[in-house]
Amino acid sequence: MKTYQIAVLAGDGIGPEIIAATLPILRAAAHKFGFRLVFEEALVGGAAIDAAGKALPEETLTVCRNSQAILFGAVGGPQWEALPPEKQPERAALLPLRRTFGLYANLRPITCYPELLSASPLKAEIARGVDLLVVRELTGGLYFGQPKGTVMTDRGERAIDTLVYETAEIERVARVAFEAARARKQFVTLVDKANVLESSLLWRKTVRRIASEYADVQLGFLYVDNAAMQLIRQPRQFDVLLCENLFGDILSDEAAAICGSLGMLPSASLGKARFGLYEPAGGSAPDIAGKGIANPSAQILCAALLLRYSLGEEKAALAIESAFRAALSDGFRTPDIASDGGKTVGTEAFAQAILDRLENP
Ligand code: IPM
Ligand code: MG
Repeated sequence: MKTYQIAVLAGDGIGPEIIAATLPILRAAAHKFGFRLVFEEALVGGAAIDAAGKALPEETLTVCRNSQAILFGAVGGPQWEALPPEKQPERAALLPLRRTFGLYANLRPITCYPELLSASPLKAEIARGVDLLVVRELTGGLYFGQPKGTVMTDRGERAIDTLVYETAEIERVARVAFEAARARKQFVTLVDKANVLESSLLWRKTVRRIASEYADVQLGFLYVDNAAMQLIRQPRQFDVLLCENLFGDILSDEAAAICGSLGMLPSASLGKARFGLYEPAGGSAPDIAGKGIANPSAQILCAALLLRYSLGEEKAALAIESAFRAALSDGFRTPDIASDGGKTVGTEAFAQAILDRLENP
């Protein structure tokens, strides 16, 4: 039987509960489609700081290296905010993981489900039918650019982040966006700030050149401030949004909220090969952790993306996605998406509703 090893990094906050809700669904999908998944759990983030003294222990990296993919929960929380910035879970675990494994392309599919239109902060007629993909550059830009840091000067402190991109970094993620657009509505919008930023000029020039290899895909340009506005004004105009690292971080939260909840947004971080890291975009949500009310949708949809992109198990991915849709249309809701008065349930019962529909479609 085909066997795959998956590194499971639950982390902090709601991470462990939404991961626990997801693993039985992955197991059931594997059983149904005739392959085997071996889950190897490892410490990450604040949990790893508390247990092992650092956010990304060497054993965890080894587990990841021996796996086909990483299923990631979330990291961070108020307990670790007093640590020096470079030791905090986000900067000491998540960013190095992305960088170590060369996961330069972050895919965030954003869908407004008809069942959840009333959970959108926008009018239903604006949110209806939104289906877009944010392709976010993930290993460059302000997150990693050097120099970075804070120094003392005679006028006080001076803090530096560097926004830097090279042609090759733009080319490879642009290709991901164009390939994705080919399988969708053939429209890429590059989001930048080319009226001000030098790096944006390089993005425009490079993406224009890559676009000439994809005659079937249309290319548009938007300044990021305009893109933020267009997203709430007329989000249906978009298909694929190609963004540098920070712009993609910001716009993907906005786009997710338009579709009802950040708790619905999965993400796939991919590199040159099939290996990937799959992480809900919503974070650790410490305010609701441990209450059993977190929405596990993003994590469960991450599991589907993992099956699709890293394992090539497309049928199993589709089966999870359609079981998820079925649970929504049968009225199951976690509190964050419960504005239409459906059956409001907790994390476990919501995941169980999906599991039932996967096993008996
Ligand atoms: C995300 C998150 C992270 C990011 C944080 C936790 C570092 O917001 O994945 O969108 O900014 O990339
Ligand atoms: Mg973010």
